[in-house]
Amino acid sequence: MSSPSPKKRLTSVDIAAMKGATPIVALTAYHAHTARMVDGLADVILVGDSLGMVMHGLETTVPVTLDMMILQGHAVMRGSTQSLVVVDMPFGSYEESREQAFRNCARVLKETHCGAIKLEGGAHMADTIRFMVERGVPVMAHIGLTPQSINVLGSFRAQGREESTWGKFIDDAKAVADAGAFAVVVEAVAEPLAVRITREISAPTIGIGASAACDGQILVLEDMLGLSERVPKFVKKYGSIGDQIQGAIKDYAREVRARTFPAPEHTYAVKK
Ligand code: KIV
Repeated sequence: MSSPSPKKRLTSVDIAAMKGATPIVALTAYHAHTARMVDGLADVILVGDSLGMVMHGLETTVPVTLDMMILQGHAVMRGSTQSLVVVDMPFGSYEESREQAFRNCARVLKETHCGAIKLEGGAHMADTIRFMVERGVPVMAHIGLTPQSINVLGSFRAQGREESTWGKFIDDAKAVADAGAFAVVVEAVAEPLAVRITREISAPTIGIGASAACDGQILVLEDMLGLSERVPKFVKKYGSIGDQIQGAIKDYAREVRARTFPAPEHTYAVKK
């Protein structure tokens, strides 16, 4: 009898087909070991450029480079076999022209073997998205609060809180979906605006600080585990791993100072 074949890795086509069928579960991961834990439990693993803030302690995602994304994208691919891995394109790597975007996205796909890329921007990125999808690059779009634009926005505050501003966000969502984005991250917008976007576009929406009515949800893994010092209002903490890690470090430090670690079972005897 042959053993059951291992589950195949999900593709961008599988994720697009989940709209209206089953909610999409997405989480970020930046390392092989966290990717291993998320793999198969989430449909999508995003190697987000939030790694600049979470891993490197940067104030914003603006300084993140393509090489940083490729290094961590590769690690996440090595740690996973089932979830679709999406790698974020960092600020400055895709906005200049369709050609620049394609060249850098192709590098990410070739060097990490990930299944798709994500980029920020609405209607003004639609031409670029179409150009890339036509040439074999699956694109996840990201609208609403776009953190790479922090220097223009002035703060990370929620968008679309006044109904009079909704037109732009709905146009953005429609433009990126019509251009061929297989999914659209909708970040930090008024809840009824996220509902309306989800209803009006053909691609699945993946909400973060948006609405339970979105076709899926994403959170930054370290935020939902309770590892991050400060988190936005939209984060629900599903764990308090930070406290557990600190407790373990305190125990270790105490035992080293008391010379009770290492114990005999952690040391090597001389071979007789
Ligand atoms: O960089 C990131 O982690 C993201 C998610 C928060 C959507 O873009």
